[in-house]
Amino acid sequence: MPISKTGIGHSECTADKQEGFEKWLHMNISIWLKIFEKYPNKIKRYYYFDLMCGDGNSPDNNEKGSALIAINTISKYAYLNRDISFYLILNDIEYGNVNNLREKIKAIKIQNQIPENVKIKTYCQDCENEDGYEEIFSLLEIIDYKAKGLVYLDPNGCKSIYKSNVLKVIAKVIPNLDILIRCPTVAIKRCMGAKFTNYFPLKNKIKEIDKNIWLVRDVAEIDKRYQWVFLFATNYRDYRAWKKERWYLIDSKEGEIIMNKISHIKDKGENI
Ligand SMILES: C[S@@+](CC[C@H](N)C(=O)[O-])C[C@H]1O[C@@H](n2cnc3c(N)ncnc32)[C@H](O)[C@@H]1O
Repeated sequence: MPISKTGIGHSECTADKQEGFEKWLHMNISIWLKIFEKYPNKIKRYYYFDLMCGDGNSPDNNEKGSALIAINTISKYAYLNRDISFYLILNDIEYGNVNNLREKIKAIKIQNQIPENVKIKTYCQDCENEDGYEEIFSLLEIIDYKAKGLVYLDPNGCKSIYKSNVLKVIAKVIPNLDILIRCPTVAIKRCMGAKFTNYFPLKNKIKEIDKNIWLVRDVAEIDKRYQWVFLFATNYRDYRAWKKERWYLIDSKEGEIIMNKISHIKDKGENI
């Protein structure tokens, strides 16, 4: 995948990624809002973390990147749900990206497009060192451990999934935060193929992250080599397959086939 000077990767699958991300964010917020409705006396706060948020734009075509998509989407829900507070915590390791993003957020605020019940914080932290605790806790210090919402991780390589503890820590400490991962399965395949590595198939690796339910979004039609998928993890049992948008429970027949493909495990009689 080509990586631009800003460290933000892009490929022929980027447009499909942004579309899939936006739709799933809608799904996630809608489900949490339904849960908030069920418990009207509890505190209503939706948290959204983007641990590798880029600078707000996709580098190849200057379309909106995940940070601006999230601000836009969450602001729409916030206008309609004034009794709910929405918190966005946007982080990137590149100071230039964070700075650019801050400028863009300022411009959106000036146009009054962010309602008052949306709070945005930006950070510049490395969230994938092998320990991961210190960075993550400094990002999480502003929230309580019962926080509800979504953490999004969109890395260029596979270190954050294979080497760092970031996802394990979040799953353990804040069980109500769902996790969305843009998985660079092509990078994982390369690492697995290298000598002297202890990389093992993704479908086994995710078992280390303590979540009850996993879904996978199948690759885009253009992605014949199974290079990119979304994985989503939650403890909320009401998530179902969304076949129109290529989302499947990983334990379903369809989900298992996709998981085998991205984990580079052959189904019977198949060449990959
Ligand atoms: C694929 S891009 C993310 C694009 C973004 N999600 C979007 O849709 O616009 C990956 C980003 O992760 C950042 N990054 C790389 N390593 C990181 C780390 N260890 N901690 C935090 N951010 C990191 C890069 O600077 C880059 O902006």
